[in-house]
Amino acid sequence: MKKKSFFKSGSGSRKAFVSTFQDKKELVEVLNANNNSDIKDTIFHKSSENMEELKNNSVSLTVTSPPYNIGKDSDLDLTDEQYWLMMEKVFTETYRVTQSGGRIVVNVANLGRKPYIPFSKYFTELLIDLGFIMRGEIIWQKSKGANANFAWGSWLSASNPVIRDIHEYCLVFSKDTFKKPSKGESSLEKEEFMESTLSVWNINAARAKKIGHPAPFPVELPYKFINLYTYKNDLVLDPFIGSGTTAIAAKKLNRNYVGYEIEKEYIKVANNRLENEVN
Ligand SMILES: C[S@@+](CC[C@H](N)C(=O)[O-])C[C@H]1O[C@@H](n2cnc3c(N)ncnc32)[C@H](O)[C@@H]1O
Repeated sequence: MKKKSFFKSGSGSRKAFVSTFQDKKELVEVLNANNNSDIKDTIFHKSSENMEELKNNSVSLTVTSPPYNIGKDSDLDLTDEQYWLMMEKVFTETYRVTQSGGRIVVNVANLGRKPYIPFSKYFTELLIDLGFIMRGEIIWQKSKGANANFAWGSWLSASNPVIRDIHEYCLVFSKDTFKKPSKGESSLEKEEFMESTLSVWNINAARAKKIGHPAPFPVELPYKFINLYTYKNDLVLDPFIGSGTTAIAAKKLNRNYVGYEIEKEYIKVANNRLENEVN
């Protein structure tokens, strides 16, 4: 018997793949389980490994950039095993609180040179294993070549030229089904829609010193995802909210936010930024 091709009938074929629920009745039941959140515009000072404050199926979109485990100021000091266990817990909780038809965006860079560590691959695998279905990935180009670092390895020689990254990844997934089940008011203009649906985004990196956090992303990054994937008044989660960038973008777009952060100092920074940068 001829083997069924995953690429023809599965997620490789956009037309064929509608949802993880092939039975419509089952899908309707799952969509009916979506909840509205009582919590909004709050940053919790605790680990997002447990987000018991949030109801099941209540978040429309998560935009986040996880900490690494490589010894920077906002990084964790864990063994690899402890690190991935923690990520698994956080994203299992994120899956629980995400609505059916809700989305998640994970911003991550690949790191190291000796060897190169493909974090984007590890996070992709983790999220798929947890049950999310992948929508695509955005290459976030952070700078033009001229501003890249000068660690070229061997200058003008094939001895050991080193690739200098000027991009990060934004991995995009849905829960249960690609289409948002609820109706709502979008706020996208035509030009932004055309740009945001392309797979490469040029956005300058944020200035860590100015913001007061070692690894912030620029407001424009979560802003574009929130505008693309949510309706007004939807709830946006960042389980590693740091200096509050996701919250700022959400409020600028008349959405609600909820965040988690283990460092009190960063919550102060986030609340100050929310006061100063929104309106
Ligand atoms: C890469 S930074 C996020 C920066 C954020 N996107 C911004 O623009 O400021 C990761 C953040 O996660 C926080 N963090 C680490 N482990 C955490 C956990 N288990 N729960 C909540 N926050 C955590 C760190 O303190 C750090 O501020």
